[in-house]
Amino acid sequence: DPLAIGIDIGGTGTKFGIVDRNGNVLFSSEISTRGHSAVEGFIDELYNHLHVLIEKAGGIGRMRGIGVGAPNGNYYSGTVEYAPNLPWRGIIPLAKLIQNKFQLPATLTNDANAAAIGEMMYGAAKGMKDFIMITLGTGVGSGIVANGKLIYGHDGFAGELGHTIIIPNGRYHEGTGKKGSLESYASATGVKLTAIEMLEKSDEFSLLRSVPKERLDSRAVYDAAIEGDKLAKEVFDFTGSVLGLALANFVMFSSPEAVILFGGLTKAGDLILKPTRENMEENLIQVFQNKVKILVSHLKESDAAILGASALVWDMKG
Ligand code: BGC
Ligand code: NA
Repeated sequence: DPLAIGIDIGGTGTKFGIVDRNGNVLFSSEISTRGHSAVEGFIDELYNHLHVLIEKAGGIGRMRGIGVGAPNGNYYSGTVEYAPNLPWRGIIPLAKLIQNKFQLPATLTNDANAAAIGEMMYGAAKGMKDFIMITLGTGVGSGIVANGKLIYGHDGFAGELGHTIIIPNGRYHEGTGKKGSLESYASATGVKLTAIEMLEKSDEFSLLRSVPKERLDSRAVYDAAIEGDKLAKEVFDFTGSVLGLALANFVMFSSPEAVILFGGLTKAGDLILKPTRENMEENLIQVFQNKVKILVSHLKESDAAILGASALVWDMKG
């Protein structure tokens, strides 16, 4: 039986796997994205790692093609354009570069779109016709499904909900030069920056004060919150309230059955989900209230995007 390769490129790490037609990830692995200032070096390393998996899975002859999910990826053109969280600037013809290196047909889409496809085919959105996928990682991404179809928009970039402005004149985003975007608050980096700001603003006791600066990340905030740290919990309360406000806006825009959350920050569970739900409900007009589910992806970590990217392969022509 033919197999597909799925690749999920993230701002921090890149995960990839070999997937069968039923959505079973047979072999998977991960490399760092961040270390590669040149995209060619990144693709070389990807190739070396995937080569091993391909051999294990029966050789290149079994591979039908490669599906890639990437931040700021465009399904129409196969390019990645002006990605604020990737080390490569400008317009990168990523699908073409991967296709040439692997000598296999490659197709590419936005990483959050890939996750939405994965959820729709194999996960929490099975059977849903209208839902919004939100990915909370190094960046904040989204895939919007309406009437059973992913919305690509006129030029393929639809669904950049992470860059919608949630707080006018709010926090500056280095990668985009804009202020107050959802991503600048509800990403892993956002959580870290919120913690730093809160620590600076008060002299309240917090376990986070003894964490060395270079280790103060969203994970450290989570660990402190689990220990009952008040300030750390406030960081998640604030993050959730910003996310909840954004979700209310998105819900009123497309009336989804559910919002599905995916990515590192969802590991914080109710610490972030509770304030998110509360603030979403608080900002919805009555017709939407108490109707829209907020679900967390149950597919194994990052498999949603690997699965969704690999699923694109089965639709490829030629
Ligand atoms: C990008 C999106 C991407 C998201 C998650 C954002 O900064 O603009 O395209 O889906 O990060 O990687
Ligand atoms: Na998207």
